[in-house]
Amino acid sequence: MPERSLAVVILAAGQGTRMKSSLPKVLHRIGGRSLIEHVLDAAAGLEPSQVVAVVRHDRDRVAEAILEHRPGTVIVDQDVVPGTGRAVELALEALPVDFDGSVVVLSGDVPLIDAATLDRLVRGHVEGGRAMTMLSAVFENPTGLGRILRDERGAVTGIVEEKDATESQRRITEINGGVYVFARRALEQALAAIDTDNAQGEKYLTDAAAGILAAGGAVEAVATNDPWIIAGVNDRAQLADAARELNARIIRDHQRAGVTILDPATTWIDADVSIEPDVEILPGTFLQGATSIAGGAVVGPDTTLVDCEVGEGARIRRSEATLAVFAAEVEVGPFAFIRPGTELGAGGKIGAFVETKNARIGDGSKVPHLSYVGDATIGRGSNIGAGTIFANYDGVQKHHSSVGDEVRVGSKNVLIAPVTIEDGAYTAAGTVVRKNVPAGALALNVAPQRNIEGWVAEHRPGTSTAEAAERSNTAKDSGK
Ligand code: UD1
Ligand code: CA
Repeated sequence: MPERSLAVVILAAGQGTRMKSSLPKVLHRIGGRSLIEHVLDAAAGLEPSQVVAVVRHDRDRVAEAILEHRPGTVIVDQDVVPGTGRAVELALEALPVDFDGSVVVLSGDVPLIDAATLDRLVRGHVEGGRAMTMLSAVFENPTGLGRILRDERGAVTGIVEEKDATESQRRITEINGGVYVFARRALEQALAAIDTDNAQGEKYLTDAAAGILAAGGAVEAVATNDPWIIAGVNDRAQLADAARELNARIIRDHQRAGVTILDPATTWIDADVSIEPDVEILPGTFLQGATSIAGGAVVGPDTTLVDCEVGEGARIRRSEATLAVFAAEVEVGPFAFIRPGTELGAGGKIGAFVETKNARIGDGSKVPHLSYVGDATIGRGSNIGAGTIFANYDGVQKHHSSVGDEVRVGSKNVLIAPVTIEDGAYTAAGTVVRKNVPAGALALNVAPQRNIEGWVAEHRPGTSTAEAAERSNTAKDSGK
């Protein structure tokens, strides 16, 4: 016998009307993943033999998102019969006929559920020899949720939906979390007997509790003291609440692992971000996608990194970067805008008001001020003068330029791509580099400067500039 015979069913057929969205509810995102992705990940953590997702509303979009994230998932379409019970009934038909194990049922809109909690629930269920075990919680305000019914001795007798509950049942504060483990056969038999004779005209999964009890199966509700793990997302306010709570948990985990995060309230870190110990994250920072940050780096304040790799000891402040690789000890910002394909070598610098895109900048090279570097390769130890533009676009196509090692590009150059400046070359300030510059050469093409003496006195007489010039000239004369 296998160690554990387990399947997971995820319910995702509902419309999510209260989201008021053209996007299906389960595709809304928190922590950088859609709600359904969070649930799929929790399910996968149980290492089940099969995961079945039930879809209906916006079926193709939801199915595609599920299969992209977890390709092995079995997609089942719900039919015209509404209700969570019907959804599970159809999901069970997708399991192998001889599958006789436990079935975990999750909702696609309950994103903070985790594998460790589910694992404990399954263990208790199997060890207790039960036919149904559900997570419950005591809520001060249980409005809208199903209530757990118990007898005088505290044994579960069923679940009642709020819309079907009596006045006194509505006063019950123990709610059904919508997270269950069932014995497959007992569930199948109970579902077959459930009708839609209730306030919502639906086939309720919750009615399985009474059915299983009537057939002699054991049913238990296990209360969690962490209500967030069963918090459903039904509208945008709950989406924001879940996002904030997930973020708080992610931040707490990083802090416990040795990351300094100064202000959790203004720091947002996606679930897939990895951060080594002794990184410091300053306020107003967003770390998104598959970003990774190596030890000793300091990121922020007010910085957004999307899918970036940050090396040891790097310093990135008040900047935005997407799909960029920063090697160790780099310095970035303030106010850098770093677009996809940027790679900055060890000890390099992308400074204030610099924009880069598809730019490979070698070790120790610096682009310190007010520049645009697009479609370029820069070698090691080179310096790009303030205000330099890599003119990569001829109006039709983009072209690539190269700068070698130990090059000194003067201030306010324009490099007209495609062009190459070879190793150890200089360019004078203000150069428009249209031709390749050989190694060790100085390139300059600025017209020689001509000073026309006395021009201001002659052409702008009586102005404040003329007066200032005259004062200066008089002072020089008397100083002689
Ligand atoms: C359900 C429970 C309720 C519990 C609550 C916890 C039932 C009848 N009620 O209520 O006791 O307190 O969850 O959050 O189960 N779905 C389908 N097909 C359907 C209907 C729903 O797949 O025909 C999916 C939804 O997409 C959703 C999940 O099942 O992911 C729960 O459905 P929802 O309508 O939100 O149930 P609740 O009213 O929240
Ligand atoms: Ca719900």
